[in-house]
Amino acid sequence: MLFPYKIILNSEIDTLKTAEEFSKVLKNGDIVALNGNLGTGKTFFVKGVAKQFNITNVNSPTFAIVYEYKGDRKIYHFDFYRIKKIEELYDIGIEEYFNDDEAIVFIEWAELMIEILPKKYYLIKINLLENNKREIEITKHE
Ligand SMILES: Nc1ncnc2c1ncn2[C@@H]1O[C@H](COP(=O)(O)OP(=O)(O)OP(=O)(O)O)[C@@H](O)[C@H]1O
Ligand SMILES: [Mg+2]
Repeated sequence: MLFPYKIILNSEIDTLKTAEEFSKVLKNGDIVALNGNLGTGKTFFVKGVAKQFNITNVNSPTFAIVYEYKGDRKIYHFDFYRIKKIEELYDIGIEEYFNDDEAIVFIEWAELMIEILPKKYYLIKINLLENNKREIEITKHE
C-alpha cells in the first residue's frame, strides 16, 4: 500500500480488504487517526485491522475513551466523540499510550482533538457516498 491511498469501497468486503492491506504496513508505535461521520465504518475498519492480528474483541469505545486489546500485537483503541476538554485526555495519561512503542493506537473522531496528535500519524478519512458506498482516503503525516 502506497500513500496517499484512495479507493471506493462498494461493500463491507472491500473495507475488510483495505484493512488487511493497511495492517501490513503498520508497525508498533504507529498512530492511526480515523475521521468520518457517524456510522461510516471507523470501528468496522479497526475491527478489520485487529482481526489480522488475531484480535476479535473490538468494540466501540464510545463510553470508555480507550480500550486495550492484545493478540499478535497490542492495540489501544480511542474514541474522542464524547471528549469535551483536552484535559480529559491528559488525565488518563494519553501521552503514555502514544509513547508505548509496543502498541498501535487507533483514534476514532480524532478530528475533535486534532491538536493532541503527535507529529507522525496516519490519517484515515471515510466518506459515505450514495448507495451505501464509501470512499476511503489514507494519508501519512510526518
Ligand atoms: N463498506 C462498508 N464498510 C464499513 N461498514 C459498512 C460498510 N457497508 C455497511 N457498513 C456498516 O456500517 C456500519 C458502520 O458502523 P461503525 O460502528 O463501524 O461506524 P463508525 O464510523 O465507527 O461510527 P461512530 O462514529 O458511531 O463510531 C457497520 O454496521 C457496517 O456493518
Ligand atoms: Mg465507531
